[in-house]
This record gives sequence, C-alpha cells and structure tokens, in this order.
Amino acid sequence: MTNVLDFEKKKQSGSPITIVTCYDYGSARIISETSIDAVLVGDSVAMVVHGFPSTVYADVEMIACHTAAVHRGLTGKFLIADLPFLAHRKGKRYLMQSIDKLMKAGAQAVKIEGADDILDTIEYVVKSGIPVMGHLGLTPQSYHQLGGFRLQGAEEESANQIEFYAKKLEDAGVFSLVLEMVPAVLASRITNTLTVPTIGIGAGPHTSGQVLVYQDLLGLTKNFEPRFLKKYLNGFELLKIALQQFDEEVKQKRFPTDQHSY
Ligand code: KIV
Repeated sequence: MTNVLDFEKKKQSGSPITIVTCYDYGSARIISETSIDAVLVGDSVAMVVHGFPSTVYADVEMIACHTAAVHRGLTGKFLIADLPFLAHRKGKRYLMQSIDKLMKAGAQAVKIEGADDILDTIEYVVKSGIPVMGHLGLTPQSYHQLGGFRLQGAEEESANQIEFYAKKLEDAGVFSLVLEMVPAVLASRITNTLTVPTIGIGAGPHTSGQVLVYQDLLGLTKNFEPRFLKKYLNGFELLKIALQQFDEEVKQKRFPTDQHSY
C-alpha cells in the first residue's frame, strides 16, 4: 500500500489493513519484504527504544530522526509519523513547523491523538494537504489524565462520547482512525458507522485493520503481556541465546575459526 487512497479502497473491499510501528532502517528493510500495508513511526518510540516511562517524552526531533531512518529502509509501504505530545497545542506556527519536519523526513501522513477542541486544528492540517490519521480510545499522550494505560469506553456515556468524536473526526477529514483499547462491540459499531477505515489495537476483531508495536509482536518487550497482544516470536529469548552463544564461543576460543579469518 503506497497511497492514502488505498485505505478507503481496502475498507470498501473488506480487505483487512495491517500496520506495524517501526523506528529504524534495519527493521524497515525487513518489513519491506512482507505484505504488511503501512508503517507507523509511533511516539511509542520514546518508551520502546529510548526507555522512557511514557510517550510524553517524545518530541518532534525524536520522531523526525526515526522517520528519516525508516524512510531510508522502507519500500512500497505507506509511512505515517506520530505528531508528538503537545505539538498541536503550541500554536499554529509550531504545529506546521513540526509537520513540515515529519513530512520532509519522509512521512506521507501524520497521526494526531484526540478530538474535542482540536477538531478545527485537524481540519486545518487536512486542508493544508496533509493526510491525518485520528486516534481515539486510549490516547497515551493523555496517560496522566486517564490514570494509566486502561480500557476506554467501557461505560455507555464514554462509549457514546468516543463514537461521537469518531464521526466528528471523519467530518474533519481524517483518512483513517486508530481505536486503542476500547471494547470490541464499540469498535465494531464505530467501524460500521464510518466510511473511513478503523485500525484497532486492543479493539477486537471487527475493525478495518490492526496495528501492533513491532517490538511487542516480536516478543522483544519482556514482561509486557497485555490481553490484546499476541507475540509472534519469543524475540527476547532468541536474541539472548544468540548473544550468549557469541560470548561463550569467544571466551572458549571457538570463534573466530579459520572460516571467519583472513
Ligand atoms: O505510538 C504508537 O505506537 C501508537 C500505536 C499504538 C497506534 O500510537
């Protein structure tokens, strides 16, 4: 998938959309050889790569730097970059300078968390010719206000509010909408209401597509076992075994052999 228009086409044809996060050149080259549709340089990079406790620590320089690295390794995939914490609340000039940096780093679209009082801002960005992906439900940049990483929209009132803002985001022009950690029944209802595709993470099977964090799905993040996550590899253990083997072979003088020498 190389084009923003492919998103709606995929929804119309009932073909699920796959997205993974990616933060570096080498991983982008691996993803390029799969049929995964699109890549997100998420602000989760602050936690997964830089070891911060939340996405609040990501800034535009961090996201732009990782976007550029991914862009250099990625072929044939649509590339989305996260607009980091508060970048859309520091004035229009700062917002547009931030988006300028992300697009020039290679992003084809930006993802912006939330709705409510930023609907006009999102509409302005869309009208400036920049595709915007929305993000509702658990919006990790509001981690402190939400009281942690927890399910959203479990009660009728909050579910109705998420559904209301999903429609508002579509009206503002988003080309797709991430729904994070909401009940499957709510995600299904929103998916049926909207024309644009929904992309779920912890939102059940009835969204138009799914997104997972690269390190999570490869099992590289130890002791992170949320219910929504399926680990497709025990990456942490496999990498540990390989590193341990290197250490042992060098210390036992079994590497390098003639085969690896000049
Ligand atoms: O930053 C991120 O990884 C995300 C995904 C979880 C959607 O926003």
